[in-house]
Amino acid sequence: MILAPSILSADFTNLGRDIRKVVSAGAQWIHVDVMDGRFVPNITIGPLVVKSIRSVTGAYLDCHLMVADPDRYLEAFAQAGANGITVHAETCPHLHRTLTRIRELGCAPGVALNPSTPLGTIAYCLDVMDLILIMSVNPGFGGQTFIDAVVPKIAEAKALAAGRDILVEIDGGIGPGNLGMVLDQGVDVVVAGSSVFGSPDPEAAVREMFAIADSRRH
Ligand code: DX5
Ligand code: ZN
Repeated sequence: MILAPSILSADFTNLGRDIRKVVSAGAQWIHVDVMDGRFVPNITIGPLVVKSIRSVTGAYLDCHLMVADPDRYLEAFAQAGANGITVHAETCPHLHRTLTRIRELGCAPGVALNPSTPLGTIAYCLDVMDLILIMSVNPGFGGQTFIDAVVPKIAEAKALAAGRDILVEIDGGIGPGNLGMVLDQGVDVVVAGSSVFGSPDPEAAVREMFAIADSRRH
C-alpha cells in the first residue's frame, strides 16, 4: 500500500511539521488537494504552497487538481515540484492531450473520476496515464462519508489497467474502518485526510493504517 495523507485536513499554520510527522511514520506520498471554487465549491491551495512543501520534504507530491481548465496550471505545478499531477476527466475535453502534456513536463499523469463518472471515459487514454484516481466522495471537502456504490469501480479500474503500469488510487472517506475493504478490491494508493490529520496523533494514525495493510498480507 502507498499511503497518501491529504494535507487538506492538516494544520496549515504548521504544515511542514505535520508533513514531517506523517512521512516519518511511513507515508510515501503527500496528497495535495487543489481547488478553485469553480469545478468544486471550495478554494484551497495553489503552486506557491506546493513549492513551499517541496522545500520541506522529499516525499512524492501527489497533486490532485480539482480545477476548471487545468491545462492553464500544469506548468506551474510541475515547476513548483509536483511529482504526480492528476486532473479530473470531467474538466478535460482533450484528455489525451492534457495527459501527454503532463508527461512532457516530467510529471506522472493521473486521471480522477467523480463518483458518477463512468470508467469508460478513460478507456482510450490508458497509454498516457500512470494513475487512475477513483473518487469515493464528491470532491470539494475533507471529512465526507465514503460512498459505498463506488466500491465495484475499484476492481473494474484494476481490470481496465491490467498489464499496464497504472496505479489505482482511492480518495475520500477512508479510515481504519474501511481500509481493509478497499485493499481487498486491489487498490494501490490510499488517500486519507481527516482520518490522519484529524486524529490527535497523526503518526499513530499512519502506523495503524500500515498495520491494517500488513495484517492482510499474512
Ligand atoms: C476531497 C479531496 C480529498 C480529501 C479527502 O475533495 O479530494 O483528498 O482531502 O479527505 P478525507 O479523507 O477526510 O475524506
Ligand atoms: Zn484529493
